[in-house]
Amino acid sequence: MAIEIVHTSAPLGHEVRGVDLAGPIDGATFAEIESAYDRFGTIVFRDQSLTPDQQIAFSRRFGPLDRYVLDRYNHRTWPDIFVISNIIGDDGEPIGMSDAGRYWHTDMWLTHTPPRGSILYALEVPVQNGEPLGDTYFASTGEAYDALPADLRARLDDTQAVFSKRKYFEFRARTNKDIDKPSGQASQQALADLGDEDIVHSIVRRHPRTGRKCLYLCEGVISRLIGWDEAESDAMIAFLERHATSPQFVYRHRWRAGDLVMWDNCACIHRATGDFELPLRRHMHRTTLANTAGAAA
Ligand SMILES: [Fe+2]
Repeated sequence: MAIEIVHTSAPLGHEVRGVDLAGPIDGATFAEIESAYDRFGTIVFRDQSLTPDQQIAFSRRFGPLDRYVLDRYNHRTWPDIFVISNIIGDDGEPIGMSDAGRYWHTDMWLTHTPPRGSILYALEVPVQNGEPLGDTYFASTGEAYDALPADLRARLDDTQAVFSKRKYFEFRARTNKDIDKPSGQASQQALADLGDEDIVHSIVRRHPRTGRKCLYLCEGVISRLIGWDEAESDAMIAFLERHATSPQFVYRHRWRAGDLVMWDNCACIHRATGDFELPLRRHMHRTTLANTAGAAA
């Protein structure tokens, strides 16, 4: 089976056509898919129809899976699936996390070894007046790195950054419009339960499969660059967050039910939007690819 790649005008978010992910997928086709994933950092498949078992089987072709750190949002029957949804179940409890990722981030930066990437499959997408809501934005961290001046790249290559959970909780409380709702309070508390110690990551990572250098950023999370003067560090963090999410590096995904989007946690950062509410329903299943997202440059 030969796949076709339909390019967007952005450096990432290209659509892969000609494959039914419900399988079976032969080895040559899978190799083409994995190559496109490594190369572009975000790829899109449309018009898929996947059971949880089929999504898990496809995801495992890439290697072992990680379970989401907050177990209460993992599917009760298929715990390898992290449920992202605003739907309230028959028991009155949210069936998934409703306010996930509404800031530029990579998945599971709160852990010391962030996973390779994520695969998100849309079961239900909120639509209003014919327009889908809840878009996801992806920014190419490799393109953003390459566009920096050489002397700055060299300096950042040797820089480590403090990713502060405390700063993140404050940022979230300030910016998340659902923070006062039971679902927002529940996820804030669940995150707080993970502890508040700082995590140090390199601000430039080398992609473990392509060798490409990529910026590693999370909006509102990095408290300082280690070894930098405080004012210079603050200014650089603000500059890098703006730079990495400049329009020329960004793909905006407008969801349709049946879409499957997979992103690489080294090659891009992403951001969800929360521009919808019940009764408009959103229901997504995410699997998370284990193994490292990258090493220090
Ligand atoms: Fe995310």
